[in-house]
Amino acid sequence: MIGVFDSGIGGLTVLAALRHALPSQDLLYLGDTARVPYGTRSPETVVRYSMRVGGYLASEGIQALVVACNTATTHALPSLTAACAQRGIRVFGVVEPGVQEALTAHERGAIAVLGTEGTIAGGAYQSMIQERSPQTEVIARPCPIFVPLVEEGWCTGEVPEQIAETYLGDLRGKVQTVILGCTHYPLLRQVIAATLPEANLVDSAQATARFVAQELEATGTGRGQRQGRTEYRVTDHLERFQRVGESFLGHAPSPTVWIDLPEAPPDFIGF
Ligand code: DGL
Repeated sequence: MIGVFDSGIGGLTVLAALRHALPSQDLLYLGDTARVPYGTRSPETVVRYSMRVGGYLASEGIQALVVACNTATTHALPSLTAACAQRGIRVFGVVEPGVQEALTAHERGAIAVLGTEGTIAGGAYQSMIQERSPQTEVIARPCPIFVPLVEEGWCTGEVPEQIAETYLGDLRGKVQTVILGCTHYPLLRQVIAATLPEANLVDSAQATARFVAQELEATGTGRGQRQGRTEYRVTDHLERFQRVGESFLGHAPSPTVWIDLPEAPPDFIGF
């Protein structure tokens, strides 16, 4: 079973891509809806929240953990990886697959990284691009209003177009590649593409699913004959998760169960 975790609803973009790439795997999704958003919180808080979720999923018997949240990947991936390694659980984030895919197609000009305040301030995307391609210019841009916009269902039309223009208009003609470095941004793909028509948009959710599938298949654990189960757990507001989740998945996420997260197990504290 693969655990997939996000601060809330947005990670369903990663879950949907994983479901497609790994049809026989059982997937257990946890949306930490009691503590969302992570994108505006301090790195220390995001690490604490992420470790608590990671500890819970590890105790549920997962073999791999996908950190679908870009903000959690940015701040908490090293801590989660260290804690999970002790239990033999492999951890995947969304940053490395997004960067890898962006650099594969990128030829010239700058790469833009769009994300939450926390993702951009944390700098994980920027430093990985600079490490792997030191000559590439990176323009990092927080687009915080995109998250509530998507959750309101305003993914097309005048309002998102104006907001996208305000955030990104000055990048037109300057960037060849844009990394959608937030779980929600793939739903604004059409508007972002219209604002930056010459840019190649990299969906980190899709990139992550391809990356995880390749890695698991390489170790012989990816494919099987049976149809995998998908289950959802949330820490608050089950009804809203199912309602808003429908726009991410095309169907209501079900079965969903509300849980109260226990305190982090001892091996998930202190990394
Ligand atoms: N899931 C978060 C991310 O990808 C966006 C929502 C939030 O701020 O929690 O960064």
